[in-house]
Amino acid sequence: MAAKVRSQYVCQNCGSAFPQWLGQCTSCKQWNTLVEEVRDRVEEKRGTPASVKGRTPKPVAIGDIPAQDGPRIPLSDRELARVMGGGLVPGSITLIGGEPGIGKSTLLLQTALRNPHLKTLYVSGEESEHQVKMRAERLEVASNESRVPSGELLGDESPTRHSALATRHSESCYVLTETNTQNIFKHIEALEPGLVVIDSVQTLHTATLDASPGSVGQVRECTAEIMRFAKATDVPFVLIGHITKDGFIAGPKVLEHMVDCVLQFEGDRDHAYRLLRPLKNRFGSTNELGIYEMHGTGLAAVEDPSQVLLGDRRERPSGVAVSATLEGQRPLLIEVQALVSSAVYGTPQRSATGFDLRRLNMLLAVLEKRCGFRLGQKDVFLNLAGGFRVEEPAIDLAVVCAVLSSNADIAIPMDTAFCGEVGLTGEIRPVTRTEQRIAEAQKLGFARIFVPKGTKGIGPVKGIQLVQVGQVNEVLGALFG
Ligand code: TYD
Ligand code: MG
Repeated sequence: MAAKVRSQYVCQNCGSAFPQWLGQCTSCKQWNTLVEEVRDRVEEKRGTPASVKGRTPKPVAIGDIPAQDGPRIPLSDRELARVMGGGLVPGSITLIGGEPGIGKSTLLLQTALRNPHLKTLYVSGEESEHQVKMRAERLEVASNESRVPSGELLGDESPTRHSALATRHSESCYVLTETNTQNIFKHIEALEPGLVVIDSVQTLHTATLDASPGSVGQVRECTAEIMRFAKATDVPFVLIGHITKDGFIAGPKVLEHMVDCVLQFEGDRDHAYRLLRPLKNRFGSTNELGIYEMHGTGLAAVEDPSQVLLGDRRERPSGVAVSATLEGQRPLLIEVQALVSSAVYGTPQRSATGFDLRRLNMLLAVLEKRCGFRLGQKDVFLNLAGGFRVEEPAIDLAVVCAVLSSNADIAIPMDTAFCGEVGLTGEIRPVTRTEQRIAEAQKLGFARIFVPKGTKGIGPVKGIQLVQVGQVNEVLGALFG
């Protein structure tokens, strides 16, 4: 049969395909994003793995389908397992996105090394075998430093123990430097791993499509092939994808609807903390959050984040307030630091790290108007400890208190925490899950927490005093008495 060459023009931004070239994509309105892709008898060549051939699906009564929240493959990394909804689901595809250098490869290589019960194939299209080996050695250093006595296995899941296991069980981790999907599938069929990691999806290419790796067409076609392969063979895949500041390099929407689970790995590269956040999960909640700390020997799960974030400072200086926030469903106590000083230059400076600057300006305007504080001629700097970024409004009250404390140069008692949204009229509005925030503060030994007046369903809590405040101008009196 003669080769039928068909080409189409694919938008590199949104993935829409057109029969002819256009200057502007008609679906996402971006200019100059169409790239020609030659589809060479795609339907005939499109890969169906050997093991799938001959299996054709038939309609099944829904009652006859076994309820499959059954087998989840456990992972030694509890944070990762929780974010995925309780473990790996056979045949699932998870996409992990994150900026370059954030630690995606590290996270998945250590997952591959530290799950001895799971034969893992780590497909690296970016690094050579030696580079992967060097990284693996780096991840295993911890185990040589702190050997665990034999016989004492699993049970407790401290990072050192994982590393100790890694040295003994790294035989279960295989590395493949291949970027052609059909070849990768062949190796998977031969090796029969329990987990396949692809680092990264942007390096893959398939023979069915004549476009360069990393283009939307290739990424989409490769992911589609992986999806068919995974569903047919029940092998779970984790794909690593790079993102830039404005989304995935190759159209985010294109991949997000294809895969089962999308995780975002984020954090400030200058800080050690990394957050793993599910954006989509067909097998669990998207309200989870995994927190890691980057060490010289890999990523360690942070079991009790509030404790780490608050540090063990005996005495706090002025300008520091602790906010009881929620990240996903996890309560997290975060230190808010403010510095208010007289402006040196004519125009006062305002700067915020980890907090929305416009919201800071709004809160300062509220303080000026409703409480008569003259902050107009002051520089105001705001910083959240640990490189965290908080978007939820419940942090407002702590921001306001940190600013007031710095302005008056009076320290806030260190046993006090805050939660509450501040409205434009200076009213303090109720926030979600106040009980959970109170419980976390109480657990960490705070003696007092400021909560919005009129919060429903909270009674007295043992061991912690609730101060209900309705207006910002009440706070000052209640705080410094
Ligand atoms: P990497 O996993 O390569 O990032 P990505 O795959 O997301 O691009 O890791 C990036 C950074 O992590 C790198 O700059 C070095 C640092 N790192 C550590 O701090 N400790 C370690 O044990 C490892 C392996 C890396
Ligand atoms: Mg990498």
